[in-house]
Amino acid sequence: MKRMLTGLQPTGVITLGNYIGAIKQMVKYQDEYESFIFVADLHAITVPKQNFNLKENTKSLIALYLACGIDPKKNTIFVQSQNEYHANLSWVLECNAYFGELSRMHQFKEKSKGKENFTAGLFTYPVLMASDILLYDADIVPVGIDQKQHVEIARDIAIRFNNKYGKTFIVPEPLISDTGTKIADLVDPTKKMSKSSENQNGVIRLLDDLELIRKKIMKATTDSDSIIKYDEEKKPGISNLINIYSSLTGKTIKQIEDEFKSSNYGTFKKVVADVVVNEIEKIQKKYYEYLNSGIIDEILKEGINKARIYAKSKYDAVKNKIGFYN
Ligand code: AMP
Ligand code: TRP
Repeated sequence: MKRMLTGLQPTGVITLGNYIGAIKQMVKYQDEYESFIFVADLHAITVPKQNFNLKENTKSLIALYLACGIDPKKNTIFVQSQNEYHANLSWVLECNAYFGELSRMHQFKEKSKGKENFTAGLFTYPVLMASDILLYDADIVPVGIDQKQHVEIARDIAIRFNNKYGKTFIVPEPLISDTGTKIADLVDPTKKMSKSSENQNGVIRLLDDLELIRKKIMKATTDSDSIIKYDEEKKPGISNLINIYSSLTGKTIKQIEDEFKSSNYGTFKKVVADVVVNEIEKIQKKYYEYLNSGIIDEILKEGINKARIYAKSKYDAVKNKIGFYN
């Protein structure tokens, strides 16, 4: 069975976009791959301290993974910082990564632009990510398009290390979710719905109040012609609502256009709001059950024990190849 690994940073409550674009995919893949899913908390400290509680956010993200259907029996679920091998291997990989290639990373360029004091961690971020991936012999890494370049550098580092020291790492493949599942901002539907968006009205978060979610959908920006038809360019707002409705119900775009042929935007928005609220209500119910049950620590303990066994064996192999004294 091929192995899949992916992680999210605990930098804010995940959005409906993350849920549709990332988490729902992970739930699907857990039956097809041997899966490793983690919280990338080491990556979360590469930027200045933000106004959230890292510990609480980490636990909350694990509870959300579980509430969204990530099954601890089918996945190894763990917290990155609990496994010291990630940082250990990262150093070794840094010595096999080039300044030039890291300088070319889009995310680094964007996040360091105009700043005097960005951290060295922001610069080596992709190497830590390569370490996350290569420690577990992951074949497949599902990520958003913005992270594709980071998986590519993980591939380059793996190939370079294998050539230098002999075959040690599996060369991973990125798996990019298809474009049909890009969810846009509700206020500005030409932008992607993003965790870090300034205008809260454009973003639905999985822990938002349910009535607020309904209001955000009812107020979503649309065009003025009142026809429910998919056209990303001319009708980005309605197309986004169609995408959301399609992702949550499994109906095709064509079926949705037919179903709402003689409806107005208000009616369609109400139906979309009902579906979204219904789905998120179920997730929230499970979320609070998990959060208050004490089971999270048990799952994480089991997860980290398993993760550490794989990681130790890979790191030992690396040490042997390099010739560290042991
Ligand atoms: P981010 O929150 O940008 O770190 O993204 C984490 C994961 O969620 C990545 O796999 C993204 O592709 C996915 N994702 C984030 N925002 C959206 C969105 N608006 N639509 C679809 N997928 C998204
Ligand atoms: N950098 C990823 C993001 O921000 C999170 C991440 C860290 C990751 N390590 C990873 C994703 C390894 C996949 C594999 O979304």
